[in-house]
Amino acid sequence: MPVEQATQRVDQAPGTLRIPVHMGVTMDGNGRWANQRGRPRTDGHREGIKALKRLVEYAIRYGVPYLTVFSFSSENWRRPKEEVDFIFKLMKRFVETDLQDLHHNNVRVRIFGEREGLGSDLRAIIERVESVTVHNTGLNLNVAFNYGGKAEIAAAARKLAREVVAGRMKAEEITEEALTRALYTNDMPEPDLMLRTGGEQRFSNFLIWQAAYAELVFLDSYWPDFGESDFLQALEQFTARERRFGGIGGTK
Ligand code: IPE
Ligand code: MG
Repeated sequence: MPVEQATQRVDQAPGTLRIPVHMGVTMDGNGRWANQRGRPRTDGHREGIKALKRLVEYAIRYGVPYLTVFSFSSENWRRPKEEVDFIFKLMKRFVETDLQDLHHNNVRVRIFGEREGLGSDLRAIIERVESVTVHNTGLNLNVAFNYGGKAEIAAAARKLAREVVAGRMKAEEITEEALTRALYTNDMPEPDLMLRTGGEQRFSNFLIWQAAYAELVFLDSYWPDFGESDFLQALEQFTARERRFGGIGGTK
């Protein structure tokens, strides 16, 4: 896209922003936010939950149909036990205390990730939030918790292999589409915008299959500071990008 055109679009009022169909968000920088203030990392996680609530509010207000947030990766188990326990406690509290709000706002919640090893209480909460909101038709909120993209792809491959072994599917039928449908995202649209705060420019194993063509936006601000201006900045960058899907572009 020529620079003038990009600039022109960015300068337009929020009403003309291009709204992503599926936004993936890596909420990074909680620990550094706390460090910067001489506070324990757990304070950063507590503030991070407030930022997540703001994000959900913006997604609803601006009409983003699908939102997937990375809240705990399968690699995060390497952290000190106290920090992991604290994040789990926050997650439980978020799902429990905010369930009514989410439900009233017509939000459909799904939790992506490995449930083995989560503990039966957390598993029960996850099942409850998913079943209570199953018929909601507003924002689709996916929370990636104990999630890893490579593990998700391996699980999908195992699922399809079992179908082949059982004679319900031919090996030739293991196509990109079949694998896509075997992922947590199933028939959801692919993420078109992946946002990461906290200044690092990495995927960190988040939606690595689904985000093959997504626009990547990185913000330096730490997650607990995430506000509407950050959200709009991400949408402005997204609006200014031209997506060609391997073609040569030109018309929209
Ligand atoms: C993101 O913040 C939250 C989780 C991964 C649970 P971090 O805890 O990674 O914060 P930094 O990157 O250390 O600042
Ligand atoms: Mg981090």
